Amino acid sequence: MQRDLSEQRVAHTQELPQGSSKKFILTCNGQRVEGFVVNYRGSFHAYVNRCCHIPMPMDWFENQFLSEDARFIICATHGATYDPATGECVAGPCPGEYLERLLLRVVEGTIFVACPPLTPP
Ligand code: FES
Repeated sequence: MQRDLSEQRVAHTQELPQGSSKKFILTCNGQRVEGFVVNYRGSFHAYVNRCCHIPMPMDWFENQFLSEDARFIICATHGATYDPATGECVAGPCPGEYLERLLLRVVEGTIFVACPPLTPP
């Protein structure tokens, strides 16, 4: 499987205090890929913004993906509940399935995210 390894800057760590999230758009091989990053207990995790239940965006409001207590990622449509650290659906309509993780690295406070693998046609 081919992979577009180009990383793109999506946020600065100071924009994302613990328990917050931010949406971003990657351009991967000419395609627009919407993703989001969460600061979960001090660690950053990035996923494609696409629910495992029905492939649609999950945010409640712009940049809002986490539950009020910041313990889970919640899909706004039917309430699928995901572990922010692993992307695993732990409750709701798709238990055991995983959000698509995006490779992320932090360089001097800047968060970079890589494109997801290309899926064969
Ligand atoms: S679309 Fe996300 S839970 Fe149904």
